[in-house]
Amino acid sequence: MISSYKRGGRRLACTALPIALSLSLSITCGISAAYADDAALPKLAVKTPLRVGFAQTESNNPWRLAETKSFKDVAAKCGWQLVLTDAGGSAAKQVSDIQSMIAQHVDLIVFPPREEKPLAPIVLQAKKAGIPVILVDRDVDQSLAKAGRDYITFIGSDFINQGQRAADWLVTATGGKAKIIELEGSTGASAANDRKKGFNDVIAKHPGMSVIASQSGDFSRDKGRQVMETLLQAHPDATAVYAHNDEMALGAIAAIKAAGKQPGKDIILVTIDGTKGGMDAIAAGELGASVQSSPFFGPLACDVAQKFAKGETIPPWVKVTDRFYDKQDIAQNMQYGY
Ligand code: AHR
Repeated sequence: MISSYKRGGRRLACTALPIALSLSLSITCGISAAYADDAALPKLAVKTPLRVGFAQTESNNPWRLAETKSFKDVAAKCGWQLVLTDAGGSAAKQVSDIQSMIAQHVDLIVFPPREEKPLAPIVLQAKKAGIPVILVDRDVDQSLAKAGRDYITFIGSDFINQGQRAADWLVTATGGKAKIIELEGSTGASAANDRKKGFNDVIAKHPGMSVIASQSGDFSRDKGRQVMETLLQAHPDATAVYAHNDEMALGAIAAIKAAGKQPGKDIILVTIDGTKGGMDAIAAGELGASVQSSPFFGPLACDVAQKFAKGETIPPWVKVTDRFYDKQDIAQNMQYGY
């Protein structure tokens, strides 16, 4: 049992301390000794129910809602008692949500780090407290906390590859000539950083293509619309949009229409997620293509947790493969929208 393992670790590590030391100092010492940075990952109990913390970043788009639902749906099947939080778009709030899960001594913490750097220290804190962590969807900066050493694994898509696939499609669709507006995801998120890199790596090889403006729309439809309105006024010569998610692309489509232009003709759009709204826009000819990014991490996290508890080796990255949708095959793929 993880609880007795943790308590045992603390007791053993602190028995040699002088009696004069305070209890809180003894406990801190015990935890640090049992789970130092180079220590093995904390163990996970095989028991039901398992108290699992899921710390969501925000609930501002269909992708996030589908991700949370996937954890709620799997909880009963997996024997999990979920402790669910929502950080409302704040990395600081997500840190404090996870701190509270640590204080409650949940058995396992699962979360998508809103941003790569600010969420890395809390992974180390959970390890020191003897609580294993699984990261889903987004990762932390690997120079600050490392998968397989500081947390069990990262379960998620290859965001760089998603950006490359979006760029490849745009190169073909435009014949290698485009003035592109890029709507970036949340600043500091691995999804935004890697999708930008993957896209730009491909575009750099095509002299007829350039990103003429780039700004964050925070993965939200309304911010995407507002940013697109502003950028379109400054760059009326734009011929393409690369949005880091469907919601911002849908916001951009509204802005393009409001400017009296036709999305899909005057301005070609490519994006990432594969939501129902994005797929409808592809079917309507307004959105060119969307690289799917699956939000359904609940069953995968359950499977990884059960294997880890049984002592099986887990790879540091459990890679999720993604579909791709454009006009040609959208009709037969509509059932995958969410
Ligand atoms: O991290 C995945 C991204 O975050 C999704 O593309 C986006 O819709 C979400 O908010």
